[in-house]
Amino acid sequence: MIRAVAVVLVAAGIATAADVSGPALDYALNCQGCHRADGSGTPGSVPALAGSVGKFLRVRGGREYVARVPGVAQAPLDDAATAGVLNWILERFGRDDLPADFSPYTAAEIGGLRRSPLTDVERVRRELLEAIARAR
Ligand code: HEC
Repeated sequence: MIRAVAVVLVAAGIATAADVSGPALDYALNCQGCHRADGSGTPGSVPALAGSVGKFLRVRGGREYVARVPGVAQAPLDDAATAGVLNWILERFGRDDLPADFSPYTAAEIGGLRRSPLTDVERVRRELLEAIARAR
């Protein structure tokens, strides 16, 4: 009986995973715990991506920051999958804010950026937010 229940639960889990794949699954497994499914973040500790992440791409240094921030640069995903999940969040949570000339991240770009980690995330982030506010 217990085994039958376990089999049903596993089958249900597989069915759920099959509905979501690629960047959406990578986001669910690697990012959503902090940034939430709807990109609203965790107030007080994790910033919202929704309505915010696309704005970084509008200011100098923002494109690099978004790929070098620890949650992205250190994600347990290869360069292509990391580019995929970043392009996915930008499309899903930042579409209205992206600059007109936005070009998607490539695996090669991610590979280069994640090899030079950000050592002062808070300062870089604060300066970018100031630049975003000024550009408004
Ligand atoms: C352990 C919690 C955590 C996980 C997991 C995580 N992040 Fe984050 N993320 C943060 C925090 C906190 C920040 C704010 C910058 C900092 O302090 O690192 C951030 C910042 C960001 C930013 C820059 C936006 C901003 O407002 O600064 C992006 C883009 C981002 N994360 C994407 C992702 C993606 C994509 C993943 C999954 C591959 C991910 N994050 C996983 C906590 C997390």
